[in-house]
Amino acid sequence: MAKRTKKGEKGVFDVDKIKKEVKEAEKPKAKPKTGKTASEKKVRGKDYIKTGIEGFDQLFEQGIPKGSAILIAGGAGSGKTIMCLQILANAAKSGEKCLYLSFEESEDRLKGHMENFGWDPKSLEKSGNLMIKRMSPHDLARSVEALLAKEKGELMIEIEPVILPEGFKPDRIVIDSVSAIASSFVGREENYRSYIGQLFRYFEKLEATSFLVTETEQVPKIFSPTGVEEFLADGVVVLYNIRKGDIRENAIEVLKLRGAKHLKKIVAMQIVDDKGIVVYPEQEVFGGLE
Ligand SMILES: Nc1ncnc2c1ncn2[C@@H]1O[C@H](COP(=O)(O)OP(=O)(O)OP(=O)(O)O)[C@@H](O)[C@H]1O
Ligand SMILES: [Mg+2]
Repeated sequence: MAKRTKKGEKGVFDVDKIKKEVKEAEKPKAKPKTGKTASEKKVRGKDYIKTGIEGFDQLFEQGIPKGSAILIAGGAGSGKTIMCLQILANAAKSGEKCLYLSFEESEDRLKGHMENFGWDPKSLEKSGNLMIKRMSPHDLARSVEALLAKEKGELMIEIEPVILPEGFKPDRIVIDSVSAIASSFVGREENYRSYIGQLFRYFEKLEATSFLVTETEQVPKIFSPTGVEEFLADGVVVLYNIRKGDIRENAIEVLKLRGAKHLKKIVAMQIVDDKGIVVYPEQEVFGGLE
């Protein structure tokens, strides 16, 4: 089959390679000899992951089902990027392969945030467990649209999400942000909807747990660019930056999570120096949510 990757495009756009990896991911896996990494736990036949974020894991009865697609929704400056960096730093430290795909901030800036919190991105990268990659949302949109144009008229539109760097099969993936991707499709919303549907199916096949950042209002009524993403996702976590008089307080809520029990309350959260996000499951937040 002819390669769809255009000359000069980066390895991340190697469509044939991605197809191969999806096939690999679909093969039944041999049981690992040494059990699970520290951040995974097997409960009644189902795997759950922990984020390692203080207080956040206590919002779930057992954890987040492995392989779920979770939206991390919130307003500007609500802590979405920090939360995702923290989730990956913790997992990479305990031996999982983690990929951070940034459509907004540069690799250096993201590593700078990690350094500020003491998460040592350099040694995590060196260990081969962490990869941070910045991609242009416009390049992504253009290559998706080129594929869609080619596939027109076929019964099954099969576009590729064009995301995996060569030879890297992640256990956890962050997309920061879905909103940046959506904004590159402005005026071509139909193409965006095709793309996002494929992206969710692709993550399902990869069996990676994915965290997809969406930019919302500070107190959102919809949690994603089109409102469809929150139905496609298995889980939605909302970060709030709530105004109380002349100050703002952070709060967090697990809005939904398929296949898992979780606390249904909005609770306090803080971004703490040298630590990152800390959640206070006992500290309910009531006022200011209008
Ligand atoms: N070292 C720190 N200590 C305390 N708070 C911090 C620290 N560093 C950043 N913050 C807070 O975190 C906020 C930024 O968090 P983050 O970048 O994760 O937000 P975001 O939701 O991704 O924002 P955006 O929508 O702009 O991408 C800052 O506005 C600041 O309030
Ligand atoms: Mg951000």
